[in-house]
Order: sequence, then C-alpha cells, then structure tokens
Amino acid sequence: MSAADRTALAASVRRYSHGSRVPGWDDAVDLDKDPAAIPDPASTPVPEELRATIERSMAKYPDRRSAAIPALAAAQRFHGYCSPEAMDQVACVMRLTPGYLVSLATFYDMFKTDDRGIHDVYVCTNISCSLCGADDVYDAMKEAARDETDVNVKPFECLGACDIAPMASVDGIYVGPLLVEDTQTIVEDLRAGRAVLEHKQLRLRRSADPDANSERFERDAPPAFEAREGGADPIREPAAGAAGPPMIGVDKSDPAMAPDPQLPRDDDPRGSSGGEPSEADSAEEKDDR
Ligand code: FES
Repeated sequence: MSAADRTALAASVRRYSHGSRVPGWDDAVDLDKDPAAIPDPASTPVPEELRATIERSMAKYPDRRSAAIPALAAAQRFHGYCSPEAMDQVACVMRLTPGYLVSLATFYDMFKTDDRGIHDVYVCTNISCSLCGADDVYDAMKEAARDETDVNVKPFECLGACDIAPMASVDGIYVGPLLVEDTQTIVEDLRAGRAVLEHKQLRLRRSADPDANSERFERDAPPAFEAREGGADPIREPAAGAAGPPMIGVDKSDPAMAPDPQLPRDDDPRGSSGGEPSEADSAEEKDDR
C-alpha cells in the first residue's frame, strides 16, 4: 500500500472528540459497577495437576500475582490455549479476577486466547539472530508459508535463545540454528502434523543444567565415593603431589630476585619512600618540627 493510500485510508476512519479512533477510549470508569468476581471454588472445578502447578508457582513469590504468567503458561499447556475456562481456573486458584488474567494473556504474544488452529512461527530477527542471517530466514519463512492460511509468520524480538541463532519459535517450540532451506521443512512438518525440525529443537538438546531435559536424557550418576578403610581423607590429606610441586626458597644470590631499590623495604622505618632520605625529605622534616 502506498503512502498516499495509507493517508486516504486513515482519513476515512472517523476520529472521536477525544482524538482517538477508538470509541469510548476515554470513558470514565463506572465506580458504581460491582467489582468483577473472583471465581467461586465451589463452582469452578480445577484439575488437580493444574492446581498443584499453579500453587507451586505462587509459593515462589511474596506477591501471588507475580505467578500469573507461569500460571497462565501452565493453563495453556494443559488446555492447549488460554480458554475462558482456563482463565477461570487460574483466577480461582490465584484468587484473582479473570479480567486481570485476560489483560496479561492478551498482552503477550506467547499466550493464545483463541483456538483458531493457527500455527505461530515467530522468527527472531534481533541482533544475534540477525547477525547470523535471520533476515534471510524470515523472508524465506514468509515465502514458504505464503499459501498456508493457518501459518502465522511474524518477526520477533530476542526470544532468549541467542546460542542457537538464527532461531524461531514454532508453536512455542524453539528450533535453530536455522538455514534458509529449513523453512520449507518447517511448513511440511506443520502440514503433516509432525514434530517440527526435531533434530534442531532446543528442548531435545543436552544441557549443562542437570535438571534441564532430564525427562528425555537420564542424568549422569554422581561419581561414586569409596571410603578406604584406614585410608587418608582425600580432602583433608591430599595425596603427595596433589597440591602441585613443593615451594622452593628464593635464591637471594640470583640478580633477578634482588629487591627493587625503588620499592619500600620491610625493615625501612619510614615505610613508604625507601632508600636514603633525600634533601627534600629532610627539609620537610624540618618544617614539621
Ligand atoms: S537475538 Fe535471537 S534469540 Fe536472541
């Protein structure tokens, strides 16, 4: 659309007296209205697994509202998206109004508030990814998904996975480092209902964090410690040579080890200047007297 078309379109949409094109934008809050209700636990059944996850999140913060995002994420994982029912369940456990949660869920792109069956492909085009070719990946991704009505391709700011740049989030699954030709595979995988680019999924990689990926990869067993009967404690009594070679005395006859005459000597009673007192020092001493 040209700039002239955009201006004409903007002019055709009416502005209200408050200056905005959104009706009711500056309507005062109705203070006589009843406050939104917090769902009643008696009439809002919450799946036990979801309740436990939300309560674990709430226990981490002094203010329970700080757990709203992880709680919504848990509800989205459980229900597939943040449905009205999911919002009610989170609100019930957190003792918040559903409206509070809706305001959060509709603000962040990673929460889905409808179930349109759209696949979200967010290609990170921030600095690390951009330096590694993200702009080409994004263009290729748009081209690959051009005829797919259910694939929503969007450029995105840093997704926090710069170590696999250039990367993308496909329905919340991080994949990378991406090549331009991977974009076609992403579309084919989505079309076929397969796991997307499985060999490039971040969640399927080994991690230095022993708790990460532990569902997929067994943790390494901790090294066995065998107490030796009558043996030395390996911490308190290291084996001979374990602490490196023994220290040797300084050879004072070595000219390289001779003390620097500019530095203070340990036995210098004045401590700082070192060497013989200068005329200036003597004059200073006299002034002090
Ligand atoms: S810049 Fe792309 S994940 Fe950080």
